[in-house]
Amino acid sequence: QPSTPSAIRGRLLIFLAPPAGAGDSASYRYIADGLVTIRDGRIAAVGEARDLLGALPADTRVDHHPDGLIVPGFIDPHIHFPQTQVIASYGAQLLEWLQKYTFVEEQRFADPHHAAEQARFFFDELLRNGTTTATAFCSVHPASVDAFFAESERRGMAMIAGKVMMDRNAPPALTDTAETGYEDTKALLAKWHRRGRQRYAITPRFAITSTEAQLEATAALAREFPDNHIQTHLSENLAEIETVRSLFPSARGYLDVYDRYGLLGPRTLLGHSIHLTDGERRRMAETGSVAVFCPTSNLFLGSGLFNLDGLIRQTPAGRIALATDVGGGTSFSMLRTAGEAYKVLQLNGRSFSALEAFHQMTAGNAAALGLADEVGTLAPGRYADLVVLDARATPAMANRMQRIDGDLEEELFLLMTLGDDRAVRATYVQGRLAHARDGVAGAA
Ligand code: GUN
Ligand code: ZN
Repeated sequence: QPSTPSAIRGRLLIFLAPPAGAGDSASYRYIADGLVTIRDGRIAAVGEARDLLGALPADTRVDHHPDGLIVPGFIDPHIHFPQTQVIASYGAQLLEWLQKYTFVEEQRFADPHHAAEQARFFFDELLRNGTTTATAFCSVHPASVDAFFAESERRGMAMIAGKVMMDRNAPPALTDTAETGYEDTKALLAKWHRRGRQRYAITPRFAITSTEAQLEATAALAREFPDNHIQTHLSENLAEIETVRSLFPSARGYLDVYDRYGLLGPRTLLGHSIHLTDGERRRMAETGSVAVFCPTSNLFLGSGLFNLDGLIRQTPAGRIALATDVGGGTSFSMLRTAGEAYKVLQLNGRSFSALEAFHQMTAGNAAALGLADEVGTLAPGRYADLVVLDARATPAMANRMQRIDGDLEEELFLLMTLGDDRAVRATYVQGRLAHARDGVAGAA
């Protein structure tokens, strides 16, 4: 049998618009027995199985997941490729955690063999969790970027990534210079940006690890390559913010450090964005910069509670993203991430409906990355990057499902509250089966 079916059958959740909140049934269409047909790696048609099956050529493969809920592959807009062996490092907040664990681990990515081996693990793990697109920080070493994109390209996945630029406040083995950071970035960008589905992100790690000279060089890259994303970190931790203040005494605040160098804009992804002033939120909205919420990391590192309402009040829809931040984050699963987002927002006095969460992990994150025409929605023309979910994956989930009588929103909420990689039955990339939990795709 070919590894690529011509169609995938199951229950379909199709978002039509960003949900206003729980119960917004106009924001989506649900098809209890639906079919997604695939041509050349893209979605050809979406609809009722009974309407579409007849038009398929005879004896082509159809992967049937009778109870499976088919949604677009999850998108993780902030993750650290060289931190898969940092995850679950004990007892520190951000700055100590970086020095004690992360900067030690990232040095190992100077070795291309280590980088290649970790890349295989990284992409296997993403797919096991239903994640088909991510925006990733690589290490300072150009070889880590080559290892990352080579593996992504081999799997036909859409990835955005870049070499971190960092020229101070880190071990010598982990620093570049303003010049080499610039030159290496330029060379990697020329090699990988828009090669197939790969995109290069200009990646100054954060204000603390870049000198003014490096930020100047980053500004030059941003001007030369306006098509590229820029990713960094912003206002994650109070001690971090104090350090930025002392390193940049003439800046008006943390965001202003990036702003002065022209680094804000609709392709700029600002990881964490927790402790912001009203003025900073306004400036992010004006520039269209994206605030990336990383709840498992924010709780694990004790960083703080993301203020979604504060941002939504000033930020146009789509300028917010939700991400794992592995290895500060504690799970590769976007389901776990959505479940923790719910808890963080509870502590901030608001809810996070399952519809909002599922929209955010798919179409919302796609819009935040400017990829809405390619991924994140079950619609003709989009890539057939799909995940099949199983809300009865564990005994506790199956037991709870007995009390959820066909209510889709409750099922989604169960998936984000108790679900993880076990709830991912299958993952498809460009219509090709890339992960099957039980070893097979589902009866033809
Ligand atoms: N700020 C600068 N680098 C990092 C990192 O690797 N992880 C997190 N969570 N924050 C950072
Ligand atoms: Zn991060």
